[in-house]
Amino acid sequence: MKKRSASVVAVLALLGLATALTVVVAGPAPPSGYTKQEDVGSDFIKQVGKFAVNVYKIAHMIPMSYLSTSQCWSSPAGGGANNYWMVLRATNWTGMAGSYVSTVWGIPGSESKTWKLLTFNGTM
Ligand SMILES: *[C@@H]1O[C@H](CO)[C@@H](O)[C@H](O)[C@H]1NC(C)=O
Repeated sequence: MKKRSASVVAVLALLGLATALTVVVAGPAPPSGYTKQEDVGSDFIKQVGKFAVNVYKIAHMIPMSYLSTSQCWSSPAGGGANNYWMVLRATNWTGMAGSYVSTVWGIPGSESKTWKLLTFNGTM
């Protein structure tokens, strides 16, 4: 009897762990205001992701390489500009791929030198 209740507790603990892991796999959620889901398969969103990695890389002199974007949401910023919030993967100088959350400001269709990197942080 005592043994049985211990295993019930163990199963409940495992279920709790599974729930916690699911949350981690789902990844970070966009901040409020980022309501438009962007197409992460589009060339445009790939360029926005590459821009974020390149600007961070140059600013911090870290050899990094853009890999992919898994989530991107935008929020209107006025004057035809948007803020873009994205979850992307990139390698650092160790060659290891990591997950990063970045926000970028820019006007779609404008030159990349007018774009601005707002934030760039590792996730986990
Ligand atoms: C390189 O990226 C990996 C994956 O995100 C990370 O675990 C590692 O700490 C990073 N290395 C350095 C030196 O920042």
